[in-house]
Amino acid sequence: MTAQSLPNTPLLFTPTKLRELTIRNRIMASPMCQYHSDDGGPNDWHMMHLGRLAIGGCGIVFGEETAVEPDGRKTHSCAGLYHQSHIAAYRRLTDMIKQHGAVPAIQLGHSGRKGSCHGAIEDWRPLTVEDAKSGLPPWQIMTPSAAISPPRPIPPKEMDHDDIKRVIEAFRTATKRSIDAGYDIVEIHGAHGYLIHQFLSSSANQRDDAYGGSLENRMRFAVEVSAAVREEWPQDKPVFFRLSAVDGKGGSWRLPDSIALAKALRAVDIDVVDVSSGGVTGSSDMPMVPRIPAYQASFSGRIRQEASIKTIAVGGITTAKQAEDILQAGDADIIAMARELLWNADWPAHAAEALGVDDPFSYLPTGYAHRLRLREAQKTMDINQDQNLIAKSLRYFLDDNTSS
Ligand SMILES: Cc1cc2nc3c(=O)[nH]c(=O)nc-3n(C[C@H](O)[C@H](O)[C@H](O)COP(=O)(O)O)c2cc1C
Repeated sequence: MTAQSLPNTPLLFTPTKLRELTIRNRIMASPMCQYHSDDGGPNDWHMMHLGRLAIGGCGIVFGEETAVEPDGRKTHSCAGLYHQSHIAAYRRLTDMIKQHGAVPAIQLGHSGRKGSCHGAIEDWRPLTVEDAKSGLPPWQIMTPSAAISPPRPIPPKEMDHDDIKRVIEAFRTATKRSIDAGYDIVEIHGAHGYLIHQFLSSSANQRDDAYGGSLENRMRFAVEVSAAVREEWPQDKPVFFRLSAVDGKGGSWRLPDSIALAKALRAVDIDVVDVSSGGVTGSSDMPMVPRIPAYQASFSGRIRQEASIKTIAVGGITTAKQAEDILQAGDADIIAMARELLWNADWPAHAAEALGVDDPFSYLPTGYAHRLRLREAQKTMDINQDQNLIAKSLRYFLDDNTSS
């Protein structure tokens, strides 16, 4: 499980340091909602899901988006860290992840106008009063501008300044709980059309107060949340911010806006920008980001270069060469993956082999590595030299079988 540090080690497998936190490689398991939580809290499913990722060799293992208040969840089964009583269950996860050499990370978020719905399998269908009969009542969602929010069975509430203050304090409290739960990295979810992104994009924010209008005003909520989280988070540990570099189809947020936001985040001591895209839609002619391989890496490169901040590339990255090339090109500091790790949770160990790292098995648990090294030695045995011996042994067993 030790990190490789040979002179010709690929960048992907070179340990990296963020503040005082050392990470064994540059591979990050991206946040992935599971819709398996019990009133926000994690359970054995999360131990298995995150356990697979931790033993597969990732440097950073992120849990899913975790709501800072109950109404900030998307569904009744989304994760949350809104009770003190949640801390012990999350601590179980972080202890397990650390035990396997990875860094545990939590993504804190609020769904805003994208709350009160069913999960991804049901395409986030809004909850209705009918669902209340099966124990899944809809709740009133909040958003910066109610009038331009997609219609819901319960009309959304436009956030007033007390709501804004309360949500910022909820981020602060969840940050303190994340420390007590043993996390080493916290990420603020400012992407994918959720609450923070709703404030950023004029496609979801048409306020005329200090939180709407100009770019600076629309960034205010994101920056205030970030400052509150940074204030609580230990100085020797990093804070990440996930943004949508550009809006989705029909949206209005563009790359120069993200570069401005990244600079503002750097000014409040955010360490890393995790570069995703999409989530807010509207009626403009902005197209969807084409889903080509590594489809967001060039956004990450531009933000890294122009805002002078560390970045994460994510989206459509599946091969070791792709990941290494992105790092070598200076387009990112960390490579995040989601779906490829669902397909192959041991991807990091396989990538280490593909990139010629010495002893790729060292990224797997010691017991697995031991047996796999033995198997490797067997594969390379020169059977030609021992042909007589092999034939004699086989004959021994075959004769034995036929005589019984
Ligand atoms: C099952 C699943 C759940 C996801 N949940 C989250 C989430 O909780 N928070 C988030 O920021 N992104 C979430 N995403 C997006 C991923 O983190 C990632 O950005 C996206 O899938 C693109 O990366 P990929 O091509 O490697 O899958 C999710 C993706 C998947 C596949």
